[in-house]
Amino acid sequence: MATYENLLLDLNNGILTITINRADKLNALNIDTIREIKTAIQQVYDDADVKGAIFTGAGQKAFVAGADIAEIAELSELNARGFAERGQDVFAMIERCTKPVIAAVNGFALGGGCELAMACHMRVASDNARFGQPEVNLGVIPGYGGTQRMTQLIGKGKAMELMMTGDMITAEEAKNLGLVNHVVPQEDLMLKCNEILGKIISKAPLAIGLVIDCVNAVFNKDENGYQTEANSFARCCSSDDFVEGTNAFLEKRKPEFKGA
Ligand code: COA
Repeated sequence: MATYENLLLDLNNGILTITINRADKLNALNIDTIREIKTAIQQVYDDADVKGAIFTGAGQKAFVAGADIAEIAELSELNARGFAERGQDVFAMIERCTKPVIAAVNGFALGGGCELAMACHMRVASDNARFGQPEVNLGVIPGYGGTQRMTQLIGKGKAMELMMTGDMITAEEAKNLGLVNHVVPQEDLMLKCNEILGKIISKAPLAIGLVIDCVNAVFNKDENGYQTEANSFARCCSSDDFVEGTNAFLEKRKPEFKGA
């Protein structure tokens, strides 16, 4: 297993919890942490024992308070594009992962933190969480996919408002906007995320992965999502798990999915 400076990894019952562990900097994403997130998400792809993942932040105060401002302050036009593209690539790996990934947002999710949460397949927030894209306060814009994913998630008007004012919103407001699926007391956050993921990973893994692919296809201009859905539906119907799922229903028993 890889070693990490800025992440804590814990595998339990098929769920890999990835904790951004820079609590003294409110878990701000420096370049090394982005690199480590790439390694960790690659493990989610590759490790058959990992069935799903949760991203969260160390401590009680922050999920991730953004990209590391000390580092972005040093960027020139030349290296800034690469900086954004490398972060975008890592977050796209999370979005496209065919195993389910949940953000457990336990405090500030600002800038790159909000972008990390939005790259996950869904978001559960503790009641103290705060969301925002405050980059304009620094004279910059989101660079890790925020302009795209926030618009996809909450619509153009609200996304414009949040990204142009730089305002922070509460977990409850984020839920009303559709940015967050559930809001729970902080002490229940990991339990809730494990409960949701536990349910998802009890289903046929192939079907879950294909749901993720098909929903992502909505936002891929080069893809006909209906075609992707029909192909994916057909792929499911040729799987052993489909035979098992339908037989189990007809035999009034619980299915035992094998992931094939
Ligand atoms: N990058 C680097 N360091 C950060 C950071 C970031 N995005 N966010 C917080 N920190 C650091 C602070 O500099 C401080 O470090 P220090 O103790 O060495 O001085 C530490 O984390 C604690 O933050 P602090 O600002 O003292 O906490 P607070 O409770 O007063 O305020 C926030 C919390 C989240 C409102 C405030 O930290 C903030 O506005 N952070 C930046 C958010 C942002 O603009 N993100 C987008 C970046 S593109």
